[in-house]
Amino acid sequence: MPVVTILPQNKAVEAAEGTSLLKVIQDAAIEFVTKCGGNAKCGQCHIYVQEGRKSVSKIQRAENELLDTLVGIGSKSRLACQTLLGPENVTVELLGFSSGV
Ligand code: FES
Repeated sequence: MPVVTILPQNKAVEAAEGTSLLKVIQDAAIEFVTKCGGNAKCGQCHIYVQEGRKSVSKIQRAENELLDTLVGIGSKSRLACQTLLGPENVTVELLGFSSGV
């Protein structure tokens, strides 16, 4: 199973391919509260995928449209709820305004 490393906590967890990064983060006992519960509506699950971007699911239209409305967007930006784990290891960075860090 691929390993997801979560920054800045530097916590590494294994998860099954096809699991959303939001679920991976929440299952890692990291507080990561979102308003929409994973429905690509709130944008609070905005993260940076620092490594393994090519391995995760591709951005779909709903995610892309919501990302366009958020601040701090870059080439590594994804919505954790819409990003599914692929076969390779991934490193994600939680952003201060969404992770409560
Ligand atoms: S959890 Fe709301 S957009 Fe991802």
